[in-house]
Amino acid sequence: MRDASTAARPQDREQNAERLLRASAKHSYDPLTAIDWDAPVDPEQFALPAHRVSLHGTPMWHALGPRQRARLSVDQFASATSAGIWFELILMEGLVRHVYASDLTTRHAQYALTEVADECRHSTMFARYISTVGYPSARPSRRAQRLGRLHFLLNDTAMTFAGAIFVEEFADAMQREMIRDEGLQPLARAVARIHVIEEARHIGYAKPELERRWARMSAPRRAVFRRALAVLAQQSVAEIVHPRVYARAGLDPVAAQRAAHLNPYWRDARVDWARKAVGFFTELGIIDRSVEPMWRRAALLAPR
Ligand SMILES: [Fe+2]
Ligand SMILES: [Fe+2]
Repeated sequence: MRDASTAARPQDREQNAERLLRASAKHSYDPLTAIDWDAPVDPEQFALPAHRVSLHGTPMWHALGPRQRARLSVDQFASATSAGIWFELILMEGLVRHVYASDLTTRHAQYALTEVADECRHSTMFARYISTVGYPSARPSRRAQRLGRLHFLLNDTAMTFAGAIFVEEFADAMQREMIRDEGLQPLARAVARIHVIEEARHIGYAKPELERRWARMSAPRRAVFRRALAVLAQQSVAEIVHPRVYARAGLDPVAAQRAAHLNPYWRDARVDWARKAVGFFTELGIIDRSVEPMWRRAALLAPR
């Protein structure tokens, strides 16, 4: 396990923030002008690789035609981006609170504001993607809205950073696969490319912050934190495929959710996309034997 006792001393914290600010100045994008939103969208093209669509390989999948499968992948990506907006709004709120409690002459606080600006552009980009491909809504599920309200109430900065690391690493893994696959919809890949580049900095900001806060946490608080993060991770991933995705494909949403839940392809996708975050949390001891079964049940950790 990593020794976090020396994590992020004030000078290291400032150096890290300085580096991130410099990288932001060089590689930041305005998605409204950097992406060609008017280019025609080919209805035959997938947005996610076929084997990463939640129903891939199931009898329901085999009953769909090629164009319906492509549409299902586009809707799944649109649903994932709407979950992204939900999460980014929560994160922005957490970062603003973090800044409010900080000294804005520090690079550390200035970078937090820079990250808020990045997330503002991302949420706008995701919303634009959703409306461009004709997905009907960016509203999160009721369950997700409740979780968001709970996060606002608890005001736990360590949890904000831990949640950010989980969601950002998960999205990063998914979107890197999209960037690599040249056969996928160019619009979806353009969105993924901008997001991957800018999110790498956010992960580099959140990790030492979480290490620092975790090192100071008492044993009883750690025990609660471990469980709370497992719940947050599980709920965030559940939010990725909203049941309306299935309803729009003419499928029974309850039966489709059950089929996805049992689908080994979909379990592999979640385990693969969660791998980096799970590795980091395990190294710190935020995932240990007491909560491993929760991560396994959520299909975010491979079965033994
Ligand atoms: Fe983002
Ligand atoms: Fe981010």
